[in-house]
Amino acid sequence: MDLRSKRLNKTLDPLAVRFLDSTDEDEDLLREDLVGTAVHAEALADAGVLTPQELDLLRAAVHQAYEDAQRGQFPLKPALEDVHMNVEAWLTQRLGELGKKIHTGRSRNDQVALDLRLAARRHLMTVAHQLLRLCKALRSVADKAPEAVLPGTTHLQPAQPVAFAHWAGMHVERLVRDLERLRDAYARLNVSPLGAAALAGTSHAIDPARTAERLAFDAAFRNSLDAVSDRDFLIEIAYVHAHGAVHLSQLAEDVILWAAPAYGFLELGDAHATGSSIMPQKRNPDVFEVVRAAAATAIGELTTALAISKGLPAAYNRDLQEQKRVLVHAWRRQRKLLAVLPDAVANLTPRPERMEAAAGQGHTDATELADHLVRRGVAFRDAHGMAADAVKAADDAEKTLSELTDDELAAVLGQHAQGVRDVLGPHAAVAAKTSPGGTALERVAEQHERQAEILEDLAAFFESETMRVAAAETRLLQPTQQSKVKPA
Ligand code: ARG
Repeated sequence: MDLRSKRLNKTLDPLAVRFLDSTDEDEDLLREDLVGTAVHAEALADAGVLTPQELDLLRAAVHQAYEDAQRGQFPLKPALEDVHMNVEAWLTQRLGELGKKIHTGRSRNDQVALDLRLAARRHLMTVAHQLLRLCKALRSVADKAPEAVLPGTTHLQPAQPVAFAHWAGMHVERLVRDLERLRDAYARLNVSPLGAAALAGTSHAIDPARTAERLAFDAAFRNSLDAVSDRDFLIEIAYVHAHGAVHLSQLAEDVILWAAPAYGFLELGDAHATGSSIMPQKRNPDVFEVVRAAAATAIGELTTALAISKGLPAAYNRDLQEQKRVLVHAWRRQRKLLAVLPDAVANLTPRPERMEAAAGQGHTDATELADHLVRRGVAFRDAHGMAADAVKAADDAEKTLSELTDDELAAVLGQHAQGVRDVLGPHAAVAAKTSPGGTALERVAEQHERQAEILEDLAAFFESETMRVAAAETRLLQPTQQSKVKPA
């Protein structure tokens, strides 16, 4: 059945039908399309296009369709091109003449824009929830070894000791910014495009503001041309994902490195380590490796989304369907990744003894030694030189700085050797970093507390939006008076 083409003398070439079909990705928009159809029926009733009784019948049919969909009994027919034509055809089959009225004053152009915004809203809230879980997982791993210190590196060379919990806090900070970016994107996406129709608005007396309110959007569109062609919200989400995926790849890389026996700072959980088909001893970090690679895919998707929008003439163009295809698949993958990662992180076991042994190597307390000299009145540049001499002496004696004897220390530092032992060693070095935001354990505890407050605020925001949206959408999918009556 082809609902669009009375004017055309031939039906569409079957190969072209298959080429233009978007039903695969539209599976993820079926619920949204039904919500949108129900709310549009209400707008048509307000406008006097539908009688109250017709509205009721339509709403009952939408409810029925939703129930079928939930039972997996609303397969989208590729021959009908997309979810919109599938829903309209289904309604028309059930309701006859009445079904043919639903497309009054609307177009697939404002429909798909609406479906995408509704789906983006839902997706974004799921992802926010998953990121919050990941923050909790990082925190729980830190809590397994609250006093562990490891060799912090720059250029991957031993630099200064830091608390393991400080490392976890760093990754949480990145995720907090990702969550804030999601919240920002949410504010711009939460606008209803329904009522823009094909591009120009409609001559029927429908009220987009009322529709927006019924859908728990913050506002309705101001410009119909923009409403049907604006995909900024998709691009913004793709950006947040790409940037977030870069963060996750950095986390994954730390885990992969530290789970390697040469480091041994972390052990992978059995449920998240993979074996080898030939080497029986293996515990491979495949989950984290795929997370590391996923950033490349996400960057590609952002580039694709931007490139498809580039140079498009006003207003709707079918190119946007290709953009939708890429991004709906991207969202599916993103949710899959974030479903597995929090547990994979929570199941990591820190090995404080390995961390500490490594932190004791590489003279990571040399800066502390220089700072000690500064406190004794030596200018930092000179102190830096004296500490370097001490490092040389230690290397020559094949010792750590704290293993040098009093005489050996005095040979390099003279009278300033006094009291130097108190500042040497990884734990002392960590304890000394009491500046705000530093790695001293009490500072790390403060940082975790502040992070927990910020995360609680973010969680409250996403939680209350989830409830508000769910209430609005559930109402539109509910049964009505007519739901008991068998439709024509
Ligand atoms: N399947 C289309 C899409 O996903 C729906 C909009 C089609 N509009 C049109 N004028 N052909 O973008």
